[in-house]
Amino acid sequence: MGTASGQRGVLDWLISIVPIFKALHIAALVIWCGGLLALPLMLAQHDPTVMAGRYRLIRRATHVTYTLCVTPAAVIAVIAGTWLIFLREAFVPWFFAKLAFVALLVVAHAWIGHILANVAEKPEHHEPPNPVFPVAAAFVPMIVIFTLVLAKPALNWVEFPNWLLEPRGGQLPFDVPSR
Ligand code: HEM
Repeated sequence: MGTASGQRGVLDWLISIVPIFKALHIAALVIWCGGLLALPLMLAQHDPTVMAGRYRLIRRATHVTYTLCVTPAAVIAVIAGTWLIFLREAFVPWFFAKLAFVALLVVAHAWIGHILANVAEKPEHHEPPNPVFPVAAAFVPMIVIFTLVLAKPALNWVEFPNWLLEPRGGQLPFDVPSR
């Protein structure tokens, strides 16, 4: 009895701090998204043939921004978002559509990191692509995600297969503690 009311108390407390999770999620994704748009533009300033000092400065700035700022912000956004899934019970079609576009954003994140690493490691052989491409690769998923989270469309026309909607009655191959 005491344990059940204790669990209820923890749950109530977690739900009361949803605004904090949401604020953290939004603050982190502003840094994440802003960084993904800024980095290709910073890279466009690269020109190893011009002044070596300036080239070194841009290379270091992009590296530090990616590793110490943009990637940690992405991790924090994903962790806070994962908590929000359960606290806000976001098991609805618009949310699953959002996750598909988050996956595309993560691919854009990895691609930008790959371009940065190539420019740093093989400056004489590697020309960064026109910044329009990486910026578009990040910007398009961002716009779709913002549209989905802000409009929260019902997406009723999406037909989910039955195996996604019903418990399958399967058993795990090991014992799990029952509550
Ligand atoms: C794995 C990554 C992510 C997860 C698991 C996640 C999950 C969530 C959840 C569960 C909510 C709460 C929804 C609600 O209160 O109804 C939320 C809110 C929000 N998310 Fe995410 N999210 C992720 C990434 C992103 C990204 C990349 C963006 C933007 C580019 C984003 C933008 C937002 C915004 C603006 C809100 C506030 C919406 C509102 O309160 O109406 N999220 N997220």
